[in-house]
Amino acid sequence: MNVMVNKTFKRREFVKQSSFVTAGAILAPGLTPSLFANSTTVAGDPAILGGQPVRTKNWPGWPIWNPETDEKRVIEDIRSGVWSRGLITTEFEEKWAKTIGAKRSLLVVNGTSALITSLIQLNIGGGDEVIVPPYTFIATVAAVIATGAIPVFADVDPETFQINPDKIEEKITPRTRAIIPVHILGLPANMPRILEIAKKHNLVVVEDACQAHLAEIDHQKVGTFGHAGCFSFQNSKNLAIGEGGAIVSNDEEFMDKCYSYHNYGNPYGTVVGSVGTGTVIPGTKLRITEYQAAIGLAQLKRLDEQTTTRNVNAEYLKSKIKTIPGIIPYKLNDHVTRAAFHLFPFRYKKEEFKDLPRAEFLNALKAEGVPCSNGYLPLNKMPFLANAFKTKNYQKMYPEDMLDINKYNENNKCPANDRLCNEEAVWFGQNMLLGSKSDMDDIAIAIEKIHHNSEKIKNRSKN
Ligand SMILES: Cc1ncc(COP(=O)(O)O)c(C=O)c1O
Repeated sequence: MNVMVNKTFKRREFVKQSSFVTAGAILAPGLTPSLFANSTTVAGDPAILGGQPVRTKNWPGWPIWNPETDEKRVIEDIRSGVWSRGLITTEFEEKWAKTIGAKRSLLVVNGTSALITSLIQLNIGGGDEVIVPPYTFIATVAAVIATGAIPVFADVDPETFQINPDKIEEKITPRTRAIIPVHILGLPANMPRILEIAKKHNLVVVEDACQAHLAEIDHQKVGTFGHAGCFSFQNSKNLAIGEGGAIVSNDEEFMDKCYSYHNYGNPYGTVVGSVGTGTVIPGTKLRITEYQAAIGLAQLKRLDEQTTTRNVNAEYLKSKIKTIPGIIPYKLNDHVTRAAFHLFPFRYKKEEFKDLPRAEFLNALKAEGVPCSNGYLPLNKMPFLANAFKTKNYQKMYPEDMLDINKYNENNKCPANDRLCNEEAVWFGQNMLLGSKSDMDDIAIAIEKIHHNSEKIKNRSKN
């Protein structure tokens, strides 16, 4: 499947090259993958101490497109003058619904709007509580706040990086109306358990699948387990349009309402741009343009093959690094048949690296030519929550006691998430997983090299 990436390059596909370029040799002598298991091969000075980096080549860039085939439809659309919502958008919606295995799909301007629209049309709002994981992008929680509901955080399972179903039930109160499982990093959350809990307590489930295009549990695509599923097509996402989002659902009535909401609340089926149709529900405007949909259709053609490549490389990389002491790669939940790998996560245990802090480990890894990140900060502790509670709407909608931020913080502690965010999580981007097997070897060699030299690296600031 890696061939696909090479093949696409041969077909002169354009990629935005990753900006990481360093001067020097391509591979330090002795650091060949075949010698990886031999610790003497990683004994050279680490790049952060002036040694030769493991890697100086670029990583696959993102987004990828083919000027010959992908730009044609975009240009045709621009020349047609039909730029607002029309037939191309409908075509993408139909194809996205089919791809995901849902009855319907609606395109909106971004994933955040997909979440807000879904929650509002499922009647979530002031006075309600919505259970969310703390390990997610801000948009998940911002969507809850936008409806006027209160986000309640259920801690994560550090092995999977996903919301921990065991922590959900204890967060349910008479005000709880919904759960938003987030398939964060593109790894599926434990939907069978979450659906069981939701059913027992009569809760709405909105899946945040914004990072999880084509991920599956028992061969069923994520986004189709709950009442609604939400996707993002923002530039970094596995299906990139620039900006864009989609709601999927099997509930026709709900989808009619979402459509109506994204078009000012005018009745479903109203021709876009027409006036005098009457307005049936409070709505707003969230329509994407035709040329965005044209880009989406082009990207959709390569999504499946790219997803396979990411899966193959992720499993290979995992097999390579899991034996390095102090490196604990992601675990997939039971019944996951495919992940999306928007990111490749592992946990870093500094005890096995002579107490080298994570930030230093990341700097050393970057110096070896391997881009990496520590990922999210704890959302449940950020000031936007206290500031939301101070707004006029919240003050009017909730009793004072519920808006006491100290009490809220006490009830929303997530120690497992704190550890992930503040100490352990490390990510590689999805574009790196579109590389070759030898690219994955480079990552593994670089980590092994740092492990081997952790004492020296730790002492560098003392010298
Ligand atoms: C988990 C998650 N939810 C929601 C969103 C929001 O999507 P968008 O950026 O398209 O609004 C994102 C985007 O980064 C995301 O990663």
